[in-house]
Amino acid sequence: MERSAINTYIEQNKERVLNELLDLLKIPSISADSKYKPDILKTAEAVKQRLIEAGADKVEISPSKGNPVVYAEKIIDPAKPTIIVYGHYDVQPADPINLWHSPPFEPVIKKTDIHPEGAIFARGACDDKGQMYMHVKAFELMMKTNTLPCNVKFMIEGEEEVGSPSLGPWIIENKERLKGDVILISDTSIIANDTPSIDVGLRGLAYMEVEVVGPNRDLHSGVYGGAVANPINVLCKLIADCHDENKHITIPGFYEDVMELSAEARAEIAKAPFNLDEYKKDLAVGDVMGEKGYSSIERTGIRPTLDVNGIWGGYIGEGAKTVLPSKAFAKISMRLVPNQNSHKISELFQKYFESVAPKSVRVKVTAHHGGEPVVVSTESVGYKSASMAMEETYGKKPIPTFGGGSIPIVALFKKELGLDSILFGFGLDSDALHSPNEHYGLVNYYKGIETIPLFYRNFTQLSGK
Ligand code: BES
Ligand code: MN
Ligand code: MN
Repeated sequence: MERSAINTYIEQNKERVLNELLDLLKIPSISADSKYKPDILKTAEAVKQRLIEAGADKVEISPSKGNPVVYAEKIIDPAKPTIIVYGHYDVQPADPINLWHSPPFEPVIKKTDIHPEGAIFARGACDDKGQMYMHVKAFELMMKTNTLPCNVKFMIEGEEEVGSPSLGPWIIENKERLKGDVILISDTSIIANDTPSIDVGLRGLAYMEVEVVGPNRDLHSGVYGGAVANPINVLCKLIADCHDENKHITIPGFYEDVMELSAEARAEIAKAPFNLDEYKKDLAVGDVMGEKGYSSIERTGIRPTLDVNGIWGGYIGEGAKTVLPSKAFAKISMRLVPNQNSHKISELFQKYFESVAPKSVRVKVTAHHGGEPVVVSTESVGYKSASMAMEETYGKKPIPTFGGGSIPIVALFKKELGLDSILFGFGLDSDALHSPNEHYGLVNYYKGIETIPLFYRNFTQLSGK
């Protein structure tokens, strides 16, 4: 497939290809909140319809224990390689709504400094409807121009943003029809629009909830304060004690399995362009912070973390209420790196919290979803195909990077299907994923549609099938 033919097709279908994505973005497919279940199903239906129109066969909304998976395939020749495209049609909740400059499910196109040609503002624009839909349109392009060089299977799920609880069992049940050669995913970021990159790692995740229980009821903070443990004070101290003065995590055994990178590998990471002043300016922070001895890129890419995601308890209404609360709560996540294991880390966390809590309170620790870290070899046919494709459309060889986020199912693709995943993302970290005013550059969207067919071509050629 030649680039000129690709670009002609994109040029001729530019508006429709954009409007279809905007329509998809109008459906609030929030997986975390069950009241959006009808919208989840509506989105799955829309993705199914678009795949049928694009020319896929066996398109179906396949039930799972939770939200359904949209499955489709096009087998042109069983002797040719098969690319399995994974993406997700669910999105994160939009709150806090009042910080959005336009409603999260009414997409608008606006120019920004980083996206002078315009970006689509909507929840899911980048993560992941926009990036997932590039694959549907690239597939359509290859079908309509008669240039699909290999087989393709689509597996678009609706629970990624809640940890993919049903997709693991679903892939085990569907092992037979998920035979393929590589998994292709656009759900990560590049360094900048003039600096392409491909993630060669993703962090794992252990997500915990802690409840600290003090006295059997809320108390008058004057009558009892000073004599009875305040669960919020205790919880804050427990959390603060999770890091030492070097921002090292203090949980015993936490670093036991962490893979230390060689000096060469670290020197390679340091080559990626990174401007600390711009980073600070973008986030409006006076300084960065993190584990001593590591750069900011390393702190998000190759080092594990522990962060509080939410903390509550006591009185948070208007005015002041003098109360010593009975309970305090926190949600705490740990990002993990190779070769840490989420179950082991969850256990270490639980033991640690229970052992250090004072007798004046009771601590209950529960584990939410988790996921294992991932590494992608730059020597694989898939990585090389992706690298060559990006080099062609960006005019620069992409830099291998370590993504700080998690896509928990990727480790399971390896374990259950024996398949490597290629993290072929086109978004930017500054696109406000999960935040108010999430957006996706029009340039990024079309660039993805332009680059994906080149991956198909390269992968087919390099596989020698
Ligand atoms: N697409 C992201 C993951 C991501 C974003 C990886 C940018 C690398 C760069 C994905 O949708 C996501 O948000 N994952 C969650 C996983 C969780 C909900 C289990 C995450 O990383 O918090
Ligand atoms: Mn995503
Ligand atoms: Mn996400």
